[in-house]
Amino acid sequence: MQVRFADTRPQGAYDLALVAAAGGTPAGVPEGAGALVADALKASRFEGEAGSVVELFVADQGTTRRLLVVGAGRGEVNDLQKAAGSLVARLLTSGTETLVVDLNGVAAEAASAFAAAASMRSWRHDRYRTKLPAKQRPTLKELVILGADGSGWERQRAVVEGVALTRELVSEPANIIYPQSFVERCRHLEELGVEVTVLGEEEMRALGMGALLGVSLGSEREAQLLVMRWDGTGGAVKEPLALVGKGVTFDTGGISIKPAAGMEDMKWDMGGAGAVAGAMKALALRKARAHVVAVCGLVENMPDGKAQRPGDVVTSMSGQTIEVINTDAEGRLVLCDAITWVQKNHKPRTIVDLATLTGAMIISLGNEHGGLFSNDDSLADQLIAAGKAVGDPLWRFPLGDAYNKLIDSPIADMKNVGPREAGSITAAQFIQRFVDNGVRWAHLDIAGMVWASKPSSTWDKGATGYGVRLLDRFVADNFEQR
Ligand code: BES
Ligand code: MN
Ligand code: ZN
Repeated sequence: MQVRFADTRPQGAYDLALVAAAGGTPAGVPEGAGALVADALKASRFEGEAGSVVELFVADQGTTRRLLVVGAGRGEVNDLQKAAGSLVARLLTSGTETLVVDLNGVAAEAASAFAAAASMRSWRHDRYRTKLPAKQRPTLKELVILGADGSGWERQRAVVEGVALTRELVSEPANIIYPQSFVERCRHLEELGVEVTVLGEEEMRALGMGALLGVSLGSEREAQLLVMRWDGTGGAVKEPLALVGKGVTFDTGGISIKPAAGMEDMKWDMGGAGAVAGAMKALALRKARAHVVAVCGLVENMPDGKAQRPGDVVTSMSGQTIEVINTDAEGRLVLCDAITWVQKNHKPRTIVDLATLTGAMIISLGNEHGGLFSNDDSLADQLIAAGKAVGDPLWRFPLGDAYNKLIDSPIADMKNVGPREAGSITAAQFIQRFVDNGVRWAHLDIAGMVWASKPSSTWDKGATGYGVRLLDRFVADNFEQR
C-alpha cells in the first residue's frame, strides 16, 4: 500500500474516513450528510474510542460514498495507530482501492505514526496461497492523508520497510529461509550503503567458533555468520553499537528433539536475527547518523548421525568450554560465539542481543512484553524507554551470582542449561559469561513477541516485526549525532 500526504481529495473513486476524538464529533462531514452521520453514530453508540469504526454510505459529490468515522481516543500516537489499524483491517480486502483520511488538526508526529501503522497493518504474506478467492485478496492500494504535515513520514517509511524485511524473513518456511538464503535476502542492503561480510563454516572453524558450529553439525545447510555494518558518521565514531541476533533458521531441538506438536513454529527461531536485519535496513534507508554493526549467527539445529550429543563438550571462540547437556538450548551456543566475534573485531562499548531464546519467557510474560536482561541500568532504561515509545514493550528481569552458579558444570567451564527454575535468567547468565569487562550489554528474549496468533493495530496474525521499531528508536535517541 502506498501512502501519500495531500492538500486536496483525489479524483476518481475512494472511501472517505473522518476521525473523532473521544466524546467528540468528526470534522469534515460531507455537505448534506450531517444528520445521517449523527444518527449513525448515535445508533452505533459510537463514543470515539480509539480504533472503533462506524461505516455508512452517504451521497457525496454526485456519487454514493463509503464513509468511515473512526475513533481517535485522546489523540495520542498510540490512539492514532489504533485508528489506522482498524481502518486498514476493515478495508484491506473490501474492494476499495483508495482510502482518503482527513487528519486535519492532527500533529505531524501522530500523522506519520498513523501512516506507519496503516502501512504495517496492510502487510501480508500471501506468496504461497495460489488459490486465494478473489474476495480475500487485498484491494487497498493507496492511502491519501489530508490536512496533516507529512514531513515525518519519510523517516517512518524507512522503519516500515525494515519491519517488512523482518516479517518476510520470519514468515518464510525453513525450506526457503536457511542460513545461506537468509544472507541472500539481506544482500540488497549493500545497495543502501551497508557493508555486508559473511563467514562460512571453514572460516568459523579457523576462528575456533566451536559452540556455534556444534549446533550446525546435524544440518546439511552450511552455517553462516552474517555481518552488516552501517556507518552514518563518516568514520567519526570509531566504536560501533553492536547488535547481535539469534538466527536459528529451524530448531528441531537436535538430538534433544522437540515434540511434534507446534514444532513448525520453530521456523521463526531466527526472529532475533530477522529483527536485527530489519533494523539495519531502517537505519540505512533513513541514513541514520550512527555507527552500528550487526551480527547474525545463522544455523539450523537438526538431529542426524553427525549431530552433537547431550554431554558433548565444545570449546567456544572465547576459549571457555561448554558441556552441552541439552542440544535444544542451542540459541545461547550461537550467540556466545557471535558476541565474542564482534568484541574481538569491532570493540563495541554497547552490545544488544535479540533472541527467541526460551519458552520460559513466554510462560513469564506471555505475548505482551519482551524480556530484558542487562548489566547496565542506564542501558536498560534506554531500551525500555525506546520500546515504550514505539509500542515494542520490554520488561526487565534480574541477573546475579546465585543464578550464574546454576550453570556451573563439574567437567567444563559451564553447562548450557540450568534447572527448570528461572530458565530465562540462567540463559541470560550464560550469555553474560561471554561479555567482556566494561562492555554495556543487554539481552532481549523476544520468544513471545516474534509471532502473533491474533491481529493488532500494526500487524495481522503472523510475523510482527517486533524489535525493528525498538532498535530504530533506541539508536535515534542514544547513538545518533545531531
Ligand atoms: N527456540 C527455543 C525457545 C522457544 C520456544 C522460542 C518456544 C519460542 C517458542 C529454544 O532454542 C529452546 O528450545 N529453548 C529451550 C531451553 C531448554 C532446553 C533449557 C526451552 O525453552 O525449552
Ligand atoms: Mn532450542
Ligand atoms: Zn531455539
